[in-house]
Amino acid sequence: MAGGNPPVSSDDLAPIKALIKSSSGLLFEEDKADLLRQSLASRMAQLRLGDMQAYLRQLEQDAEEMPHLLDLLTINETYFLREPEPLRLVAERLLPAHLSQYPGSPLRILCLGCSSGEEPYSLALAIAEAQGLAALAQVSIQGVDIDRPSLRRADEAIYGGQSFRALSAELLARYFQPLPAHSGQGPRRQLCAELRRPVHFQHLNLLDEDWPLALQGQDLVFFRNVSIYFDAATREAIQRRIGQILKPDGLLFLSSTETLSNNFGLLELVHEQGLFFFRNRPPKVPVAGSAVKPEAGPANNPATQDLAFGTRPSHGRLPRQSAPAAPSATADYEQALARVEQGDWPSALQLAQQLCQRAPEHSRHQRLLAVVLSQQEQFDAAEQAARTALAQDDLNPFHHFLLGRILRWQGRAGEALAQFRAVVFHRPDHWQAHYHLADLYRSQGQDEQAARSYRRVLQLLQQAPSAEAEPLMQALAAPPGRVIFLCQRHLQQLSEQEA
Ligand SMILES: C[S@@+](CC[C@H](N)C(=O)[O-])C[C@H]1O[C@@H](n2cnc3c(N)ncnc32)[C@H](O)[C@@H]1O
Repeated sequence: MAGGNPPVSSDDLAPIKALIKSSSGLLFEEDKADLLRQSLASRMAQLRLGDMQAYLRQLEQDAEEMPHLLDLLTINETYFLREPEPLRLVAERLLPAHLSQYPGSPLRILCLGCSSGEEPYSLALAIAEAQGLAALAQVSIQGVDIDRPSLRRADEAIYGGQSFRALSAELLARYFQPLPAHSGQGPRRQLCAELRRPVHFQHLNLLDEDWPLALQGQDLVFFRNVSIYFDAATREAIQRRIGQILKPDGLLFLSSTETLSNNFGLLELVHEQGLFFFRNRPPKVPVAGSAVKPEAGPANNPATQDLAFGTRPSHGRLPRQSAPAAPSATADYEQALARVEQGDWPSALQLAQQLCQRAPEHSRHQRLLAVVLSQQEQFDAAEQAARTALAQDDLNPFHHFLLGRILRWQGRAGEALAQFRAVVFHRPDHWQAHYHLADLYRSQGQDEQAARSYRRVLQLLQQAPSAEAEPLMQALAAPPGRVIFLCQRHLQQLSEQEA
């Protein structure tokens, strides 16, 4: 452990985990224990505290301490135009429908867990693209988050590198002004004032009992890539509060991998235009096993109903998440791994989906789903699951490897390269990642780097490679004998080209 502190046992962590959960709702199961340990070590070193008991006392006695720890723990992964389909739905259909029903009344959108602002600003960008900059006068977008440093970055609206990973060069040039370079920082750009103007930020802990009254009356709520960090009881409590601040028939969007695990029978699940989202209206049929009885529905208000399309929705009901008393998640996970090993992909997919519905906060479930979906060539969904796993644990090199492979298959060489570089940064002996790097360099005409990487693979395979801890890696790794053959052949071709 850093800072010369003694190693922290799981027992030592238990009271701290309980404090974190009660103040923020964040769960730190085994798969995120490393992040917790590292954050604690770094905070204890800053405070010059030598043992965990002293830090626990600090947390209990000083109300200012928990926010410092949460700053280190919250996972703020986000980027512009992440999962863009719902953004397009808002810009192209929901906003025009709203304005034709309520001329002069701005569409109110709230982003819960907005991190450094990329999501609310992406909504503004999508609206500007679809309807022109003038349409932004008709919307009010608010972002809230528990993490104050992220909110400060959101207010500044200055971004670089990874935030732009899904943005085209054209959009980047249209809406972001380059800033003079600062020493030690890569190129940075500030979002233009027109897109910043309709967006505002505020601090909020989603676990607070009382949300500010001013948040009431939302037309749309985005709550994406946040619920994965909470257990089912916390997710359900938050959804009740969302129901209180949404207008009747207002809509709630989660990310595509989260929607099913947030189907508590409180709101109506709607499936339209290939998207799942919730409508603030009690479900027509009680959800099996739900303790929640549907109340009498709001009088169907012709002005607010079917905000989206003006026709009755075909609200497809999805299977309710499986009961927690079913065989343990670990047993199911082991079973899914066995299916992967046997190459029984349909069964593996079914098990992986069930695990992600039941416990989406476990990154091993998300990476399992990503592996299986990618084998089934469902690359968009696989990418989403891999990014979820990465957001949950970005120190796990396998998550970068998995995402790199998916991006490579999608032909996104530049983004794939970045992921494989991250793998070898964490694990310099990862021959599979070096092999992908070599192939990608070669495809981009960077022959010298390609040759260096092929040689590195051969070198690593000649030494006995270290044992692979990740069981899913076996499903993805090419046989070493074949890789040696391919490396030698490519090296020969590269040297012939050079001659
Ligand atoms: C992975 S980011 C998601 C950002 C954005 N919604 C997106 O989809 O790209 C998760 C955010 O949730 C925030 N968060 C976590 N727990 C929270 C809580 N209890 N209250 C408010 N925000 C919270 C984190 O600070 C982080 O910024």
